[in-house]
Amino acid sequence: MDKLRVNIGKLDLKNPVMTASGTFGYGKEYSDFIDLSRIGGIFVKGTTIRERQGNDYPRMAETPSGMLNAVGLQNKGIDYFVSNIYPDIKDFDTNVIVNVSGSTIEDYVECTEKLIELDKIPAIELNISCPNVKEGGMAFGVCAESAAEVTKAVRKVWDRTLIVKLSPNVTDVTEIAKAVEGEGADSLSLINTLLGMAININSQRPVLSTVTGGLSGPCVKPVALRMVWQTYNAVKIPLIGMGGISCWQDAIEFILAGSSAIQIGTHNFIDPTISVKVVDGIAEYLDKNNISSVRELVGALKI
Ligand SMILES: Cc1cc2nc3c(=O)[nH]c(=O)nc-3n(C[C@H](O)[C@H](O)[C@H](O)COP(=O)(O)O)c2cc1C
Repeated sequence: MDKLRVNIGKLDLKNPVMTASGTFGYGKEYSDFIDLSRIGGIFVKGTTIRERQGNDYPRMAETPSGMLNAVGLQNKGIDYFVSNIYPDIKDFDTNVIVNVSGSTIEDYVECTEKLIELDKIPAIELNISCPNVKEGGMAFGVCAESAAEVTKAVRKVWDRTLIVKLSPNVTDVTEIAKAVEGEGADSLSLINTLLGMAININSQRPVLSTVTGGLSGPCVKPVALRMVWQTYNAVKIPLIGMGGISCWQDAIEFILAGSSAIQIGTHNFIDPTISVKVVDGIAEYLDKNNISSVRELVGALKI
């Protein structure tokens, strides 16, 4: 089905539908529900140089049309990933992309240096936009200078596809996008979660142990779409859009706004087969509208 094929840097995707970091485990957790070879790629859980326990509970809360999370990048660290997880997932018939997080530039670089040894990882996504960790994380993604600095440092040690994930918790996303593009990123993914909070009026306490957390799901879709569209008009590198996608129609909206590919996050928790349904829905839409390639739709919004 070449009409669905897209390229992001050197990354070749059989279709533009991928799953978002932190919402799809390492892929194998979902292999009983879907044929993983049907999707364009899997962004695995946020990985850090050292093991992280994550934040205290409660760290999830439901909201109207979405959820708040404050998981805080719980993972067993890069060495555990290399020796215990990579062997199980390296032969998936889809792209396995590692989401790299850190507190310092050295953390990001060290993690990347370990990943370059793994020949079945065609791309990494730098998470410079996590709102749930005390130091680092979002701090890099809300300032153009530090976003550029971390991109530049990782670019020096990573010659495969480099995707940088942007934070929506900024005044002007295009300023950060241009700074990151200027340091050689191949692609930008957006958006990470929006900073939010919830309060329990009976205890008169915050619902999350961290007080604030990251908002995701359908409620963030209009914000995400707006940011994709603004960024599409500001940079030349391909975008990977996400934020509240829960059906194929949402995916088409993101593509029209300027996404070359998309990621599905929170909706995997509601319907673990959603990614394949979105692939099929996009293919049918192309057929019905006599469009020969999904690439023709990217940024085709008529204004
Ligand atoms: C429980 C949970 C964990 C997440 N963990 C990560 C992570 O480790 N790294 C990252 O870059 N984004 C993480 N995200 C953000 C998602 O990848 C995505 O950017 C965001 O949720 C918006 O998409 P959605 O509305 O489709 O979920 C997480 C989101 C959720 C809900």
